[in-house]
Amino acid sequence: MALPARVRIVEVGPRDGLQNEQAIVPTAAKIELIDRLSATGLQSIEATSFVSPKWIPQLADAAEVMAGITRKPGVAYPVLVPNLQGYERARAAGAEEIAVFTAASEAFNRRNTNAGIDESLARFAPVLERAAADGVRVRGYVSTVLGCPYQGEVPLGDVVRVAAALHAMGCYEISLGDTIGVGTPGKARSMLRAVAAAVPLPALAVHFHDTYGQALPNLLACLEEGVAVVDAAVSGTGGCPYAHGASGNVATEDVAYMLQGLGIDTGVDLDRLVETGRWFAALLGRASGSKVTLARTRDPGAAVA
Ligand code: HMG
Ligand code: MG
Repeated sequence: MALPARVRIVEVGPRDGLQNEQAIVPTAAKIELIDRLSATGLQSIEATSFVSPKWIPQLADAAEVMAGITRKPGVAYPVLVPNLQGYERARAAGAEEIAVFTAASEAFNRRNTNAGIDESLARFAPVLERAAADGVRVRGYVSTVLGCPYQGEVPLGDVVRVAAALHAMGCYEISLGDTIGVGTPGKARSMLRAVAAAVPLPALAVHFHDTYGQALPNLLACLEEGVAVVDAAVSGTGGCPYAHGASGNVATEDVAYMLQGLGIDTGVDLDRLVETGRWFAALLGRASGSKVTLARTRDPGAAVA
């Protein structure tokens, strides 16, 4: 299949990135991060998470973050929601789009949400009902689609079943997550084909963590299958505290650079994104996880692409 002409990048740094930081980032810095990201032309920015603050203390200030950001027209600011309690908190904070999350691996889902897969789907049913009544868009995540830190191999049939269930419940988009970044392009392609046989391709997104440096090749394999929505985190931040060994997401800067090189429109200003990534890495007190940002920092004159 031909590559898509346009790709929507879903920036997950403020949520997936910050949930995995040891240090608690000040609320004002989170707000500044989101506002800087919206100024780059990104159209979807996952802003925070209304999960239990006992589980993820890093994002306990979710309501304050939502209250502090400047919402840019045309930009969606989805937030993670695990249950009805999270939905109510998210709505009280003014969220207009949410994301529910489960996994293809029973073992991982239990550790991440203290529930089996079917139990988590049952928790989402009233959330989706409320969301439909409120006109709130719901994204769905399936984690561990290419491997699980506890179970190892994850049968493709399990990925397909969970993705199809979320879609049937009303999620407008299903993000397929390689939570621990163990996938390789052939496996990513097969997984995507299998899911696309059950869920329409335009409703699919991919979410690659880069533990083994396979995220961009995996992404390209899925773009070649026609996927046109890609999750990424600025500066390559991210990981799940309940997925041991997981590293950061594919860096948004690197995705934007690759897509630009392929002639695919993203609407994102790469220079501004690199600048934001540099600022964010400095805030976190470490080198950026983006190869593009590192290369441009070493040689500022080389800003071609
Ligand atoms: P639980 O402890 O089983 O929940 O947690 P519970 O219903 O028994 O409630 C226990 C306590 O939590 C109660 O408080 C509730 O009020 C409170 P207490 O009475 O003890 O004072 N509580 C909440 N408080 C605030 N907001 C809520 C909420 N829910 C319950 N929404 C639960 C179950 C699902 C809540 C918990 O396991 C949880 O929050 N897990 C989230 C873990 C997480 O955020 N993981 C990372 C995100 S997933 C990810 O990163 C993967 C992804 O990036 C894709 C990929 O890479 O594959 C999306
Ligand atoms: Mg993730």
